[in-house]
Amino acid sequence: MTQAPPVGPPPCARVAIPARALVVLCGPSGSGKSTFAAKHFSPDEIVSSDACREMVCGDPSDQSVTPQAFFLAHTVLRLRMGAGKLAVMDSTAVEPFARRQLVAMARLFGAPAVAVVFTVSGEECVARQAGRGTRRVPEEVVLRQARALEESLPRLSREGFHAVFMLGPWEAANAEVARIGR
Ligand code: UTP
Ligand code: MG
Repeated sequence: MTQAPPVGPPPCARVAIPARALVVLCGPSGSGKSTFAAKHFSPDEIVSSDACREMVCGDPSDQSVTPQAFFLAHTVLRLRMGAGKLAVMDSTAVEPFARRQLVAMARLFGAPAVAVVFTVSGEECVARQAGRGTRRVPEEVVLRQARALEESLPRLSREGFHAVFMLGPWEAANAEVARIGR
């Protein structure tokens, strides 16, 4: 079955990241968020919800510690922004409420919130799980995340982000990331 193209801003091959930004990665599990983050940002800049789960209970996929993991992640983000440092939130952020919290937090610190959105189809995300070894998210969860993101796309540009960058599979692997305004 061929998927309809996503509705929303067109994909872009250059991602411009302002100084002190809160970068919000958005995409279903398997869309390539952590791969992208590791390629373009230093470890201290990346705040990963899965890494926070692991810090809390030793298991990066344990959903029972989600509130604690996000409390930890948001605390670190606040500390980074308070220190005037760039931070990248690596979580799915496919639901509007998750993005709303982050946009509000950035605004509180006078920092620009930038969304980097991974528009990889749910089917492709499921296929990629197979190649990932240990941490595999169930198919129905991945497809639900993909649907949630797709529903968000038409209004993403009105959620208060300073900029929204859409990355298809090609852009996710090949886009240039430029730091601006240092
Ligand atoms: P990631 O583990 O980077 O996805 O890639 P993610 O979005 O962060 O997933 P969650 O939310 O933490 O679960 C998933 C798989 O896809 C491959 C990676 O090597 C990994 O096995 N991948 C990533 C590609 O095949 N192509 C890409 O462009 C990026
Ligand atoms: Mg990840």
